Amino acid sequence: MRPAKDFFRPLAVGAPAPVTEIPARPSRAIHFFDPSNAKMAAKVPQMVGTVDVLLGNLEDAVKADNKEAAREGLVRIAKEVDFGPTQLWTRINALDSPWVLDDLTTLVSEIGDKLDVIMVPKVQGAEDIHYVDRLLAQLEARAGLQRPILVHAILETARGVANVEEICGASPRMQGLSLGPADLAADRRMKTTRVGGGHPGYLVRADANPDQPEAHRDVFQQDLWHYTISRMVDACAMHGIYPYYGPFGDIADTTACEDQFRNAFLLGCVGTWTLHPKQIEIANRVFAPSAEEIAHARRVVAAMGDGTGAVMLDGKMEDDASLKQCLVMVELAEQLAAIDPALKAQYDAVTIED
Ligand code: GLV
Ligand code: MG
Repeated sequence: MRPAKDFFRPLAVGAPAPVTEIPARPSRAIHFFDPSNAKMAAKVPQMVGTVDVLLGNLEDAVKADNKEAAREGLVRIAKEVDFGPTQLWTRINALDSPWVLDDLTTLVSEIGDKLDVIMVPKVQGAEDIHYVDRLLAQLEARAGLQRPILVHAILETARGVANVEEICGASPRMQGLSLGPADLAADRRMKTTRVGGGHPGYLVRADANPDQPEAHRDVFQQDLWHYTISRMVDACAMHGIYPYYGPFGDIADTTACEDQFRNAFLLGCVGTWTLHPKQIEIANRVFAPSAEEIAHARRVVAAMGDGTGAVMLDGKMEDDASLKQCLVMVELAEQLAAIDPALKAQYDAVTIED
C-alpha cells in the first residue's frame, strides 16, 4: 500500500508534481476522430472551438492495419493544429494489445505537452492505472514535461465495474470515467447487439385488468445503463473526478440519443462521447443547464440569504439542501459561460429579466 504522504509525490525523478485537484474544465462533448482517416483529420482544425474536447482515437474502430497511421496522424495533427480553448485527448489501445507501449512512448515523447488526457480502455482494476501512472511519470520526466498528463478510464468490463472505486482512487492523475456500454455488454454477456442506448425488450408491463385480461397494458422501457451510471457517478463524486456517458451508436436516432444523454446529465455526468458532428449539438445543449433552470437556481440562492433555514418559493419549500443543488447548477453555468459566449448571453438574459 502506498502511504498517504507519498500519494502526491512524482513516480519518477524529474516528472512533474501530480495535481492535487482535477480542474473542472467544461467537457460536454468528447468528440472522437480517427487520425488515420484523412477526411476526418482534415476537419479537425475547423472543429477547434466548436467542441469542448477533441479525442484522437487509436483503439477500437481503427483497423489493425491503420494503428500506426492513426498514431502518426495524431502526432502530426497535434503538432500542426492550434487547439486554443479545445482540449486534446487520446484513447490509447488496450493495455494487453501489441500497440499500447508504442502509443504511450510516442505520444508522450512527441506531443506530451499538447495532450490533456489519455483515455485508457478496458480498465480492470487499480493495477492497470498503477502501470500507466508509473510509465507516464517516466516518459514525462524523459520528455521534460512541466505538467502531468491526466488519465481517464473506460468502465467497460465486469471486473472494472466491480472495482470502480479503487480505479477512481488509484492515482492523482485520475480525471474521470466513461461508460463503455458496447464492451461492457459483451463482457457481461448481456444479450444486446448495440452500442449504447436502450432495448425494447427491457421493460416493465402494467398489471393485467382481471376483468379484461386481453385489454392493452402499458409497457415502459427501462434503462439498461441506470445501475452502471449510478455506480460510476458515486465513485467519481467520492474521488473528486468526473463521470461521462460513452458512445451512442445509432447516429440517425437523435431523439433517443438526447434521452440517454439527458438521463446521464440528470444522474450527475458532466459530458458524453460524440461520434458524429450532429451529436455535438445535442451534447452541448443537454449537458448545460437551461436558462430557466439557472433563473430558478439564482432565485433560490438569493432567497436563501446566508444559506441556512427554509423559505417558500412558488409554494415549494427550499432549504440548505435544495440550495446546494442550485449551487451545483449555478457553478456549472458559470464554468460554461466562461467558454461559451452564446450560453453566457442566455444566462445573462435571464438575470436581467429576473
Ligand atoms: C466503448 O468503448 C464501448 O465499448 O462502448
Ligand atoms: Mg470499448
